[in-house]
Amino acid sequence: MLKGKSIILGITGGIAAYKGAALCSKLVQAGAVVHVIMTESATKFITPLTLQTLSRNPVYIDTFDERDPAVVSHIHLADHADLIVIAPATANAIAKLAGGHADDMLSTTLLAATCPILIAPAMNVHMYEHPAVVNNLELLASRGVMFVEPGTGQLACGYVAKGRLAEPEDIVMAIDSWFGKGGKLKGKQVLVTAGGTMERLDPVRYLTNDSSGKMGFAIAEAARLMGADVTLVAGRTSLAPPAGVKVIRVSSAQQMLEAVTSVYDDMDIVVKSAAVADYRAVNVSDQKIKKSGEKLVLELERTTDILETLGQRKKHQFLVGFAAETEQIEHYAMDKLRRKHCDLIVANDVSKDGAGFNGDTNIVQVFASEGLVESMPLLSKREVASRLLELIAARLPSLGGRGE
Ligand code: PMT
Repeated sequence: MLKGKSIILGITGGIAAYKGAALCSKLVQAGAVVHVIMTESATKFITPLTLQTLSRNPVYIDTFDERDPAVVSHIHLADHADLIVIAPATANAIAKLAGGHADDMLSTTLLAATCPILIAPAMNVHMYEHPAVVNNLELLASRGVMFVEPGTGQLACGYVAKGRLAEPEDIVMAIDSWFGKGGKLKGKQVLVTAGGTMERLDPVRYLTNDSSGKMGFAIAEAARLMGADVTLVAGRTSLAPPAGVKVIRVSSAQQMLEAVTSVYDDMDIVVKSAAVADYRAVNVSDQKIKKSGEKLVLELERTTDILETLGQRKKHQFLVGFAAETEQIEHYAMDKLRRKHCDLIVANDVSKDGAGFNGDTNIVQVFASEGLVESMPLLSKREVASRLLELIAARLPSLGGRGE
């Protein structure tokens, strides 16, 4: 998808600037024509010569360093770009773009550009969560700027938290998928559920599960990258939501049911990747339950099956469920597909290494009423999300697909 595409790669001044070199190299290898613009601060972390060598093009830093008298560089670059990617994007670069500043080559080019912009932020977790940064990201998202969310892991500042630049391969995948499917879900309302639910036993204890929300958040991000309006109903998760996505926070299965059903009628696509509790306590104690005796028996009752409820009320919605299984994957997945009236079921064998709960990868098989439609090997959850949405888009009746 990248062959011949003209991409401006903006590199700003964070430690992750060094990853800009790998990103540049991968884009060039994929056939893109890459023009690198660095901020002054970025040059403190990586040399322009590295980027010039990898991109095989001159690197721009100073707005007034006009090398070709026939053109005004920032206008010329902006006019000829198919996409601008800023990776890493610092809090300062994000603030400047949100505020419309034009005081260096990158910010000036960004203001002159009419092509889409994709931002891969990278910074300390507290900076990333600062209300000013959150507001700027929201503002940019409302203007149609796309994002590749930072990953969670060891940060250069010593924290282990969210803020690491997404891996160059993931950024390339997002760029590639935007060129391939950009706007494919434009105007579509997509509802994604993510994370685990929490069922209270008393004020300090609850029943939950291992879901981190990563799978659902990746689906929300991928849907947004494909142009959809995304509502994310998030249960228990420590992840910061992707920018540009409407988030409804819930705790219990009952709250998730209420949140999901309140918006269901307006949705075109619903993907239920949350791990919802099947049982909750019959009586939730107002006070902390005291130790007494050697055994404690909890009485539990069934929660409402949200997916099944949606299946029964389905009108035009394309409904996708997940199935977390440990045995007889196809049998149980097909049973859930039929019982819950889903268009697709994404089955993950959660007993396999690299699949299911908590990690950054998954291994899934996607089933429709006719049986297995795609078997995905070990892939990042981002890649699974992207391929799944591609499958959904291809089957959406309003886009010419056949539906269930
Ligand atoms: O969040 P991660 O750490 O990234 O992990 C991802 C995941 C393993 C949670 C995800 O890939 C996954 O499998 N999600 C579904 C987990 C699950 O609850 O599976 P299930 O087989 O028990 O339920 C089947 C479907 O019914 C699911 O779509 C579930 O959301 C839905 N359900 C279940 C019970 C209930 N009361 N209401 C529901 O809607």
